[in-house]
Amino acid sequence: MRAFVGRTAVITGAASGFGLEVARIAAREGMKIVMADWQGDLVESETAVLRDAGADVMAFRLDVSKAADVEALADATVRRFGVPHFLFNNAGVGSGGLVWEHSVKDWEWLIGVNLMGVAHGVRVFTPMMLKAAAADPAYEAHIVNTASMAGLVTAPMQGAYCVTKHAAVALSETLYQDLALVTDQVHCSVLCPYFVPTGIGISQRYRPVDLSDGATPTTSQHIAQEAGEKAVNGGRVSAATVAQFVFDAMRENRFYVYSHPKIMGVVRRRMEEIVHGQNPGDPFRLRPSMGVELRAALNGRRG
Ligand SMILES: NC(=O)c1ccc[n+]([C@@H]2O[C@H](COP(=O)([O-])OP(=O)(O)OC[C@H]3O[C@@H](n4cnc5c(N)ncnc54)[C@H](O)[C@@H]3O)[C@@H](O)[C@H]2O)c1
Repeated sequence: MRAFVGRTAVITGAASGFGLEVARIAAREGMKIVMADWQGDLVESETAVLRDAGADVMAFRLDVSKAADVEALADATVRRFGVPHFLFNNAGVGSGGLVWEHSVKDWEWLIGVNLMGVAHGVRVFTPMMLKAAAADPAYEAHIVNTASMAGLVTAPMQGAYCVTKHAAVALSETLYQDLALVTDQVHCSVLCPYFVPTGIGISQRYRPVDLSDGATPTTSQHIAQEAGEKAVNGGRVSAATVAQFVFDAMRENRFYVYSHPKIMGVVRRRMEEIVHGQNPGDPFRLRPSMGVELRAALNGRRG
């Protein structure tokens, strides 16, 4: 999709991070925007900022893991702006720790938001886009699903997150194949960022009450939380830059969108291990001291 002015963008996770930066670019491009997020006050205030700057924008509070909420988002979008042209299925949350220590609620929360949120977006919006395309040869649309580098490689103590992001990549690749069977007017991409400073490290703070355990985090969960926040906050590529990559990819109709193309060697190594039937390699190969420290911390020893 090359033209954006006057067209409509629907963005989930729009109150913060990539979603907010994509909304800002969409506003500069002259798009009408639906900013959807679980954090209602935050999305209202960010919407007000863009509206004050002249954008035609609407806030929508939802939980993307709930089918009915995403259906209500679609209804509200169509009522206000018509069938959208850009869907950014982007809302996501993080939680780490040794994989057997994820609680049932951890799994439900992560799968609900990171996977079912994307699945609901695809399920609800794709048919109306295809219908609009069939009715109008000038109509075009692009769906961008946010996965992660954690959808292309696996990392210790990121089990549930990696599972959801691998699933989001698989869903997106299948969407790409399926769209190609039926249309050349609706396209899709998958965004696979590495560590980028956003709010993802603190998503536990607004976790829904019914999906919270109230349990004291285990040692591994503490360590994963601290390490995750440090890695995200230390990222050197900004969310605004990644948002620009999303628009570049739509313009070029490019499927895979990376924030850190230079680290793709880690994906190649994983693929080679799979192809050659080798056991998964040492994730701390480049920084062995990290592995030593982590093992010591998990086993209650000094590093
Ligand atoms: N920042 C990174 O380093 C990084 C790396 C790889 C992938 N990602 C992915 O990028 C996406 C965007 O995250 P971000 O990094 O901008 O973080 P962020 O926390 O700044 O933004 C995520 C937004 O999603 C919203 N959200 C969470 N649960 C929701 C729900 N159930 N329904 C609706 N909205 C919900 C949050 O309120 C928040 O505004 C996520 O899918 C995340 O997994 C981030």
